[in-house]
Amino acid sequence: MKIKSLLSPLLLIMLMVSCSKENNISDPANGENLVSDLISKMTLDEKIGQMMQVERSAITNYPQDITNYFIGSILSGGGSAPSNNNVAAWADMYDNFQSFALKTRLKIPMIYGIDAVHGNNNLYGATIFPHNIGLGATGNFNLVYDVERATAEEVAATGIDWTFAPCIAVPQNERWGRTYEGFGETADLVKQMGQSAVQGFQTGTLGSTSTSILACAKHFLGDGGTKDGHDQGDVQISESEIRRIHLPGYDYAAKAGVGSVMVSFSSINGQKMHGSYHWITDVLKGELNFKGFVVSDWGGIDQLPGDYKTKVETAINAGIDMIMLPYDYKTFFATVKQLVSEKRIPEGRIDEAVKRILTAKVQLGLFERPFTDRSLISKVGSAEHRSIARSAVRQSLVLLKNDNSFLPLKKNASKVLVVGKAADDIGTQCGGWTISWQGSEGKTTIGTTILEAVRKALPVTTQVAYSLDGTGASGFDYAIVVVGEKPYAEGNGDRSDLSLSAADQTIISRMKSSGIPFVTVLISGRPMILGSVLNDSNALLAAWLFGTEADGVADILFGDYKPTGKLPYSWPRSMSQIPINSGDPNYDPLFAFGFGLTY
Ligand code: BGC
Ligand code: BGC
Repeated sequence: MKIKSLLSPLLLIMLMVSCSKENNISDPANGENLVSDLISKMTLDEKIGQMMQVERSAITNYPQDITNYFIGSILSGGGSAPSNNNVAAWADMYDNFQSFALKTRLKIPMIYGIDAVHGNNNLYGATIFPHNIGLGATGNFNLVYDVERATAEEVAATGIDWTFAPCIAVPQNERWGRTYEGFGETADLVKQMGQSAVQGFQTGTLGSTSTSILACAKHFLGDGGTKDGHDQGDVQISESEIRRIHLPGYDYAAKAGVGSVMVSFSSINGQKMHGSYHWITDVLKGELNFKGFVVSDWGGIDQLPGDYKTKVETAINAGIDMIMLPYDYKTFFATVKQLVSEKRIPEGRIDEAVKRILTAKVQLGLFERPFTDRSLISKVGSAEHRSIARSAVRQSLVLLKNDNSFLPLKKNASKVLVVGKAADDIGTQCGGWTISWQGSEGKTTIGTTILEAVRKALPVTTQVAYSLDGTGASGFDYAIVVVGEKPYAEGNGDRSDLSLSAADQTIISRMKSSGIPFVTVLISGRPMILGSVLNDSNALLAAWLFGTEADGVADILFGDYKPTGKLPYSWPRSMSQIPINSGDPNYDPLFAFGFGLTY
């Protein structure tokens, strides 16, 4: 991610010879020395600065505050992009922030974090990969590694060093609006996928390449297990169940050397995770031997009980190392200073936090390469990455029904109808966390829609017509009908009813009455209640939130590839069956976990 040195080869050799013993900080022992040396020199103010992560738009006295408050980390929240949303503008912004961090007395670089949760999804023109639910359906760990390695390259091209991913939630209840951010409903699937994702982002060992970015396993712990699937809610199960379902992913991520872990907004049996010494310090840092640093979630400490001072005290003493501060870092800064002077937070705790943060920065190579490597610009949305995404898309599709081998569709048809607004909508097929936090319908970024992919896949002699609502469907050989959920993120996606919308159901009944055979492609962040849609369709394909590369959908529809995707979530018959998960007593879903037809 960092600038290429302009040193002449000779100078470089001389430098290498003279520095190799003492100063080569990529050497772990020297890295440790650098960290302890820095900590021994740092003032309390400088240490508190390292523990702060400020939202880019919240830096009031910009850019001087980066230097004055020793701000150790900056983030972009969902959709928080520079006004020109292109890779050069992101890199300029990053380098500018960095230059002010390097103006501090000890010249400690800042680390910049972003939610690159399905590609570098805030960046216009980036390759958007399927959300984790789709990656889970592929069951392909090597593919996940490749997807995240490519994502890391597109992140590094903007200068950014750190992604708040992978989400290794194990969602147990499809009502939850973040179901799509999880790889699936079983600990086994999630822990393996999560581990590959961590390795992909960090490209093996953290800092081993210039496009290695820091991964962040989230949200610790139990985010996917809240009662009724309420976002940020309360997990009401025993510690042994929590360990069985929700903990293994963190064990695997820690073993893969994950650089950071984000704490969950949710609670366990009434106790907020942001205040849990037991889980953060005893279990994560102790038992699991996690060596990276712990970051809080967006304003997460504000939800703790007590006055502000007490909240800060509780969170830091629980073991949170870096605090995500979306709005007010000044009050936080002053509050920590007071708490340390009153000995309510031991200095040793501050040192431990700073040590973990600096160690990650050293491992990442930030001290050696603090600025953006502009040569990576061509990686963003590149043909190579789009082809990885297309392959991910076709492996992620799950064929749920295929009466009389209706699929693959014949390419030699004379008239084909494509139906539904979602068939020609980049924003819908990408879902939440795409360009904006919530995502939105419409042409939000560069990519290929299903309609476009179908047109490309069919010979010019085939006439392809498009109907938004299924009217006018007569005289066609067959139809491809695309329906599903509109974009959402986090709590805005919580639902008590997962039936298809009335408009979508009308489209399907209209198609049924037309007598034209059709395949329904469902774009959704989770299993939905299918009702009569299943019977009415000749074939049904779950496409999840597959991202920008709809050619992967056409690959399956027309039989260039056979479907291999398997359900990462049990498919419920009705709302009253939810929660339903693999291994439940009397397990009787509409389609079981792992189900998926092929040709
Ligand atoms: C930000 C998101 C963040 C959310 C938390 C939004 O304004 O853009 O990144 O997750 O707030 O509520
Ligand atoms: C979300 C996190 C995200 C953070 C920063 C929070 O609201 O829960 O998943 O990483 O915002 O955008």
